[in-house]
Order: sequence, then structure tokens, then C-alpha cells
Amino acid sequence: MNVENIDSVLHEERLFEPSSDFVKSATINSAESLAALRRAADDDYQGFWAKLARDEISWHKPFSNVLDESNAPHYQWFNDGLMNVSYNCLDRHLQTRGDNTAIVFEGEKGDITSLTYRDLHAQVCTFANALKAQGVVKGDRVVIYMPMTPEAVVAMQACARIGAIHSVVFGGFSGESLKDRIEDAGAKMLITADGGNRGGKIVELKQAADKALASGCASIESVIVFKRTGHNVEFNRDRDVWWHNAIEGMDSVCEPEWVEAEHPLFLLYTSGSTGKPKGIQHSSAGYLLNSILTMKWVFDIKDDDIYWCTADVGWITGHTYVAYGPLAVGSTALIYEGAPTVPDNGRFWDICQRHKVTIFYTAPTAIRALMKSGDEIPAKYDLSSIRLLGTVGEPINPEAWIWYHKVIGGARCPIVDTWWQTETGANMIAPVPGAVATKPGSCTLPLPGIIADVVDEEGNSITTPDKGGYLVIRKPWPSMLRTIWGDDERYVSTYWPKFDGKFYLAGDSARRDKDGYFWIMGRIDDVLNVSGHRLGTMEVESALVAHPRVAEAAVVGRPDEIKGEAIFAYVVLRGDRPEDGIDEALTKELRAWVSEQIGPIAKPDDIRYADNLPKTRSGKIMRRLLRTIAKGEEITQDTSTLENEAILLQLQGKV
Ligand code: WT7
Repeated sequence: MNVENIDSVLHEERLFEPSSDFVKSATINSAESLAALRRAADDDYQGFWAKLARDEISWHKPFSNVLDESNAPHYQWFNDGLMNVSYNCLDRHLQTRGDNTAIVFEGEKGDITSLTYRDLHAQVCTFANALKAQGVVKGDRVVIYMPMTPEAVVAMQACARIGAIHSVVFGGFSGESLKDRIEDAGAKMLITADGGNRGGKIVELKQAADKALASGCASIESVIVFKRTGHNVEFNRDRDVWWHNAIEGMDSVCEPEWVEAEHPLFLLYTSGSTGKPKGIQHSSAGYLLNSILTMKWVFDIKDDDIYWCTADVGWITGHTYVAYGPLAVGSTALIYEGAPTVPDNGRFWDICQRHKVTIFYTAPTAIRALMKSGDEIPAKYDLSSIRLLGTVGEPINPEAWIWYHKVIGGARCPIVDTWWQTETGANMIAPVPGAVATKPGSCTLPLPGIIADVVDEEGNSITTPDKGGYLVIRKPWPSMLRTIWGDDERYVSTYWPKFDGKFYLAGDSARRDKDGYFWIMGRIDDVLNVSGHRLGTMEVESALVAHPRVAEAAVVGRPDEIKGEAIFAYVVLRGDRPEDGIDEALTKELRAWVSEQIGPIAKPDDIRYADNLPKTRSGKIMRRLLRTIAKGEEITQDTSTLENEAILLQLQGKV
């Protein structure tokens, strides 16, 4: 796709200045102090990051190298320093805020637990000792497949403590997806639970894990099972050990393993446009640094905040803004196990009221869904504790933004629309809320030290306002991904393919308005964004063609009011196309099949059957055409290069 042909249809002129109340208490509270930070980064890029890394991270051995560019694009940060992420999240707070609440947890059924820093430290150390007792050592991969409970964070922090590399797999993924990720990571251990509570039902985590292990995963030596639901699950005594048994008799003291700054903290699998999901590899110190800075700059975090990021730990947002960032700055993080709809659509607001949440961070898809259920529901709750709102995952439509601002934020709270990616580790383009006025739908301006740009095919900066181009980052930054686990070539070819490998290619198109504000326009590749979650069209296509009745499949996104994008699949069957293109039983079966193969989020919303797919004479599927049809729009593009023009009527559902 040629990004320069993308014309923006969205023109939003409203500007929202932060209220004087917010500005009064904000840490960065003026355009000047923000400009000073930007200038510091411009004047001495390495000096800027070095100072922050010294100020914000507790080092076991200080670094002297700042940025090593000798093996670009394999950049290294602070690489001769030694530190430990878990030490930075826990131990260093014990003196000053040991009795402060680190985590408040609410289960879907209403059970509430609260852990102080001292409690959490003891739990992490105890569990870290249990991991060691099971033979886990520095550098081993540990896959975590858990419900949203404090134990998920304990497991992650315990891995960090001993230098094991965790890879969290979202509990909504199927056993099949879990298996692929375990095998790619070569994980030695799996940490899971009997189940979790979501949507009034039990999520059968152990069952899915058993399925994964029964079909492969030869590298797994043992499985730790946390008892969450208490329902009956299969238990393999040679392999499985209950969490409560594994920690029995373990010491609550565990010296952190001092690791190199570049030691991998975790892998997190995410979808790309081709092939299987990629294991994004993050570092220890660089990742931690941007996590801390964005907690301060973007979330304006204070000691008395109750910070609630609704993301699951299975996504990057749940890593940076649940498991690491809030703890590294010594704040209080709220964790909720379940769905926003239990017992009704007021659950989020009920939690905000009861726990006096001050900072609330969620996805546009959730905002749109809750907006649809009406203003009367949030009106029943006292949301006056909230002082700052955030969104992430996809562009937020101005209507939802205004609703969020007025109905949830009482027109008093700034909204931070944060653009970033699994690969970037932390917020990249986002307002500093006490210093930057916001515009509904724009993620505003890059953070200090983040040299983002919009460029044309040749890599030249686009200075014409509102002209679309490639979103790139021109300089390496500390929390950037380091590579793709086991596929370094793919790292280079995916993120550094153009512009002589000099800029990081984000995979999004964007434009800048006359004030320099960034507006994300969408992906430039075949990646879907369903409810703020990334899915490769290829993955869904592979799942479909794995079904015995499917010969060929093409998947595209179509705009959806709640989910952002819905999944539209064109399917060619082995044998005849169903009469009139309709076979409800098969459609149901295929949807369930994809759900089994990948997870419920990947279920196609629409399936259309055709005798074949629209291909050019060179055999390339014309995806743009399929997108037009999925939107229900008339075809205006040239179809004369199609091998079989007649297929269009079938694809449109007209015959
Ligand atoms: C892709 C990254 C980062 C955590 C959630 C998703 C889209 C993300 C925004 C935003 C517009 C956004 C981009 C990006 N995206 N945040 N504020 N405005 N688009 O992480 O799964 O790695 O997906 O999500 O397309 O490339 P992810």
C-alpha cells in the first residue's frame, strides 16, 4: 500500500487544556518544563538517558556505557551495568513505603485482597525460591498462563528476581496457541491455574494447558498450578505441582540475581502480518526505565494514587502498567479479575467508587461498549476520585472521547491517549497531561527523548500538515524490543526494512496536523486490531484452512462500532459452495474451530463462501477489494486485472 495516498477524513478541531486544578498538582506542569526536557534530549541524547537511568534505577553495579550502536539495529543500553527489576519494584521501597499497599485485588465474585509492599516482597521471594527448587535458573524460559490475580504478578516478579525469562500467554488464548508459544520459547516450566473467573464462568486454564502439553511441549519439565477456582481438574502427579505445595517451607528471603542491563526480562508473543506470532524480546534496565518515566510523565503518578490499568497481564499493557511500572514507582495498583459486565455494565464504575481509583486506563473498545449501555449506569456511581483518564490500543473516535471526558471524567480529568506497541515497551506518543492540551482522537506529541516522525517512501520527513505517511522512530530508545526470539532475521526485516535500516518502522501510518499533533491512521500491513488486540490476518487464515472442509481463506477487517475492527472471512470450500452461499451450521462450526485454534478473540464475525478468491493474474489476492466488499461499499477500483471478474457478485453476497 502506498501510504501517501491515504487521505485523512477525520478533522477534529477541539482543543482541551488541562484544568488549573490538575495543573496545580501535576509534576510536569508547564509547556516550559516539558520543553526543557525535550531540549535536554536534543542537546545530548545519550547524556539525557544516562542521567535518567542513574536517577530512576537502583543499580547494583553502575553502568558507564550508555548506548552501544556498534551492532545496529541491535542496540544496547547501559550494557555494563548490573541490576534487578524485581529489586527495583520491591526491595527498594521496603524502607520508605513497606506498609503501603502495592496491590489491591478484586475478584469477579467480589473477593478483595490487599497486599503491602512487604507482603508482596515476601510472596515474590517465597515463590522465587520455589522456582529455584524446581530447577529454574537464570535464562530459562517460564511460560505463565494465569487468570488476572496477584499471583500472576507474583509469578512474573519471581522470574525477574532469579533472572528467568517469562513469557505470559493471555488466558483467553486456546491450548493450541499456548503450545505454539511454549514450543517457540523452549520453556522449561509452565505456571498456570485450575481456572479463572470471567463473565460468570470458569475459564478452563488447566484443561487448555493439559491439551497443549498432551500434543507437544517437550521442553516443559514441570507445571505449577495455582488453585483459584477450586473446581475439579486433572492432575498429573509426575509433572504438576500445586502452587501452595511448591511454596511450602520456602524461605521468604531470596537474594535477587544481579543481571546485566541487557538480560532479557521477558518475551511476549504478538501477531505480525505473516507467519506465526513473534516473541518480542525485551531487556531489563531499558524496559524498566521507560516504564518508570511514563508512569511519571504520562500518568503523573503520586504516592497517594490508586492506579487502575484494566489490561490483562497477557498483553504488553498489563506488563508495563500492571506488573512493573506501578510497582517500580512505589504506587498502588488495582487488579480486577473479571469482565466489565458482571454483574452489570456498572462494574468498572463500582470498582472506581469503592476503591477510590484516581487514575483509570482502559481501551477504546471498552469505552465504546460501556458508552452504549447508557449514561444512567455511570451516573449511579461517585467517580469524583478520578483525576486522570487514559486510553490505549487503537485510535479513539471523538464521540467516545467526549463521552469518556464528560461522563466518566466529569469534564475535569485530562485524557491521555497513549500510542505505543508491544515492541516499544512503553508509551511513546502521549500527552504529558499537565503541559499538553489534548484533541479528541490524537495521541498528541512524542515524549521527551522519543524522536518520532512521519516520513514518505524515501524517508523524508513530511512537513505538509495532514499528509499521511509512515510512522517511524528515528533514534533507538531504552525500552525498544531487542530482537524476535529465535528469529533475528525477522527482527531486522520487519522493523528496519526501509530507509537504509536507519529508522524503526512502527507499521502504522500517521499524519501530523498544523500543530504537530500526531494522528494514527491505521496499520500499513495485514494486521487486524480487534478490540485493541493485534491479530494477523494470516493467523486466522491458517486456522481456517486447517479445517478439513476449507480449501482457501482470505481474512480482512471491517470497521466495527464497538470492537474497532471485526473479522471478515472469505472461504472457499473443498467441494461445492453452499447453495446461495449460506450454510449456517458450517459457519457456526468454523467460528468455533477458529476459537479452538487461536482463542475466542479471533472468531470471524462474518464468513462468506465463494467458489474462489479475487486474484490478479499473478495469483495475488486483492485484499483491498475484499476490504471494500466487507465494508458493504460499492467497488470503485479497477477490477480488470482480476482473473475471474465474475466472482465479485458472489463475494458481495449478491448471488
Ligand atoms: C498497535 C500496537 C500498546 C498496547 C496496546 C496494543 C495500535 C496502540 C494506539 C493509540 C492509535 C494505537 C497501533 C499500534 N495502537 N495504541 N493510542 N492510538 N493506535 O499493543 O498489540 O502491540 O498493538 O496498536 O496500530 O501499532 P499492540
